[in-house]
Amino acid sequence: MKVSASAPGKAILFGEHAVVYGKPAIAVAVDRRAIVTIQEGTDNHINVKIPELDVRGVIDIDNQQISHLNPEDTSELSNDPFKSSYDAGILKYIQKALSNFKTDHGLDVQVDLEIPIGGGLGSSAAVTVATMAAAARYNQQELTLESLAKMAHQVELEVQGAASPLDTTISTYGGFIYFTHKDGAVKIETSMEMPLVVGHTSKPGNTGELILKVRKLKKNHPDIIGPIMDTIETITNEARESIINGEEESVGELMNINQGLLDALGVNTPKLSNLIYQARSAGAIGSKITGAGGGGSIIAYCPGKAKEVLKTLKSVENAFEVSISSKGVTW
Ligand code: MEV
Repeated sequence: MKVSASAPGKAILFGEHAVVYGKPAIAVAVDRRAIVTIQEGTDNHINVKIPELDVRGVIDIDNQQISHLNPEDTSELSNDPFKSSYDAGILKYIQKALSNFKTDHGLDVQVDLEIPIGGGLGSSAAVTVATMAAAARYNQQELTLESLAKMAHQVELEVQGAASPLDTTISTYGGFIYFTHKDGAVKIETSMEMPLVVGHTSKPGNTGELILKVRKLKKNHPDIIGPIMDTIETITNEARESIINGEEESVGELMNINQGLLDALGVNTPKLSNLIYQARSAGAIGSKITGAGGGGSIIAYCPGKAKEVLKTLKSVENAFEVSISSKGVTW
């Protein structure tokens, strides 16, 4: 038997990092996906291949140990998933995701990626959700979207040490969502078009490490960082209204204010900053980091100027356009 499942990446428009402290966030699923294919294995192990990253790994079914078989690096992965290489860290998500599903024989698992890894576009959540969906299908096991999102969040928590349910929720349900911890994903109904250009630095951001960095800053300066989180919450709530009412200029302004506060949280880098200002000079009305920062990507909101912004960002780093996708996980 051979089964496949896929799940989308995402772009966070408002509220990253603050969402870790119970604040709301606004995110969209994008039309770039992780596609996972599982079939019966040729030996007694779980063999994982990720062609886009040139990463291969073997998971021992009995002790769950991962061996990383990238030809350039034969070291075994330890509990630190990123010790071997950043790209190989994705094997840890796959191992944890599959450990929720029993198998008495080996498996061949292929992961095809349309999303850059560590790029702030939810690659680890998309891989985790798609892996679990494919494994459930392979085992002919019923799985509701709600329990899939919950289990995938648990995997992110275990691998990263800290994570909000935002990435795994958007990857499961797709669409344009306002996320709160109380109500989960609530669809934003709007006729607003959101042409987004992603500027992607070649340096990946490590989400777990960045969350811990912000946590430390908050612990050291609670009276400053606490109100910053509150202000991000106000921005996100105002942005929701502006999006519903189709107020483009206001959405752009709020993105730029949110960016200033992400900078204050210490997750900006010179490369991200350069992309952000280049995008604004080329006509973006809003531009900010998307996701954890520390590397990874920026998004630029550029109604009527997508071509110009794309061209400018491409001359500096990698860049591509994304469309909002209503399609969540499919299996
Ligand atoms: C990462 O895509 C978004 C963060 O808010 C972390 C999280 O929500 O788990 C930085």
